[in-house]
Amino acid sequence: MTAVQADCLTAALQIGYHLLDRGASALTAVEQTIGVLEQSGLFNAGRGSHVQLDGVRRMDASIMEGQELLAGAVASIEGIVHPISAARLVMEQTSHVLLVGKPASAFARHFQLERQPRRPSGHAVRKTTMTRALAPKTLQLYRAMTSGGLVLRERAGKETVGAVALDRTGTVAAGASTGGIDLMLPGRVGDTPIIGCGVYADNVSGAVSMTGLGEGIIRIAVAKDICDRLERGMSPAMAARAVLRKLVTRIDGAAGTLVIAPDGRFAIHHVTPRMAAGWWDGKGRPVVKDRF
Ligand code: GLY
Repeated sequence: MTAVQADCLTAALQIGYHLLDRGASALTAVEQTIGVLEQSGLFNAGRGSHVQLDGVRRMDASIMEGQELLAGAVASIEGIVHPISAARLVMEQTSHVLLVGKPASAFARHFQLERQPRRPSGHAVRKTTMTRALAPKTLQLYRAMTSGGLVLRERAGKETVGAVALDRTGTVAAGASTGGIDLMLPGRVGDTPIIGCGVYADNVSGAVSMTGLGEGIIRIAVAKDICDRLERGMSPAMAARAVLRKLVTRIDGAAGTLVIAPDGRFAIHHVTPRMAAGWWDGKGRPVVKDRF
C-alpha cells in the first residue's frame, strides 16, 4: 500500500466513524466511506476502476443493512463515479435488488449521480500482442469474439473497496464497490454485486464485505457462509478463518474479508499476501495496514 493510499484509508475511516458518532446509520457510514475511496482514484473502484478488455469501465457495487435485510446492487454500470450510491438508490427507490448494464447507468443518471467517462483516458487500446501466459483462455476467446484491440492492466496494487459498520441502534451494514479484475471479458461480473457472495448483513449474525477473486467467492457464497457461522456462535475471527480456509482448500480461491458482529467484535482476514485495510473505534488514530 502506498502512503497516499494509507492516508486515503485513514481519512475514509475518520469520515465514517464521525458520521456514526453523530448518530448516522451504519448504511450511511458505509456508503460515505466507500464514496471517499471511489472518488480517490487510488483503488479499484469508481475513478480508479479497472477497465474490461474493450477499454470500458464496467463497475459493480452492493450495499445491505441488517435490520430489515434490505439490499441494493448494480452490475456492469458505466459512466458514474459512485456505484455504491447507485446501489443504495436501487435499495431505497425501487422494489428491486439488482439493476445491470446500460439501464443501471440510465437509472444513476436519472438521480444525477456524478459522471465520469466510460472509457478512461490513459488506458491505451492496443492490438493483441500481450503475453498469453496471463489468462490464455480469456484472451483467445476475446480475440475470437472481436477484431478490436484490448486493454492491459496498468494499475497494479489496487483492490476492490468495501466497508462494514455498526451504528448506535445496533444495526450493521456492509457494502462493496469494484472495477472487477484484470483481463475481464466485456460483461464479466464478479461477486461484489451478488448479495450473499460479496456482501451480507443481518443484525442477528453480523456484516461481511469481501475483496478478492470474485469467481471463487461466488462459488462458495462466502459472505453468507461467514454470517451463518456467526449466527451459530463462532467469533468473527474464527468464522472468517474457517470460510477463507474452505475457499483455498476446496477451490484454490483468493480473498480477503471484513467482518463485524452486532456486539462490535470484528475481524479483518485475508488469504492473499496483502490486503490494504483499516479500522477505527474513535480512540487514538485509525489503524491502517496491508497485512492482518
Ligand atoms: N471481488 C471483485 C471481483 O471479483 O470483481
